[in-house]
Amino acid sequence: MTDVQTPVELLRDEHQAVLQKLEALESVIANLEEKDKVATELRELAAFFETDFWVHFDKEEKALFPEFDSFMPRGRGPLAAMIEEHETLRRTNAVMQQAVTRYLSNEDSAETRRLISQYGMHFISFLRDHISKEDSLLFRMAEMHLNEGQNARVVRLFAEMGKIKS
Ligand SMILES: [Fe+2]
Repeated sequence: MTDVQTPVELLRDEHQAVLQKLEALESVIANLEEKDKVATELRELAAFFETDFWVHFDKEEKALFPEFDSFMPRGRGPLAAMIEEHETLRRTNAVMQQAVTRYLSNEDSAETRRLISQYGMHFISFLRDHISKEDSLLFRMAEMHLNEGQNARVVRLFAEMGKIKS
């Protein structure tokens, strides 16, 4: 036994970091009317979900998920569903980001705040649900099926991709 973390353990840790960011985002969205108080935090959170966060998806899509080929047909089942959910999250995030950019510039309006709220809350609840499915189903499958060599290969790829900010 070694004390090196497996890829699934590393991704579960990142999920915890992401869940904390979602909690912060939820409280910012509840206080959009108080722009002076929330603008700085919203800018930081939006930057995280605009750039850093996708490193996590890359780790899943480009490093971990390809190893599923050894035990699950590609394009079917829970893996395909998770990849489809990633696309939904990317689309929802794009709309939220555009509204946040307007909110933080001089184009703030009631409609802008409504869009941040609507798409932001959708992003939050969808991503929480998605994380719970990955943790409870997909990652368990990886733990069951991936051998040591596969785990080592995935962890090496992770190291090349960097860490998400927490
Ligand atoms: Fe994930």
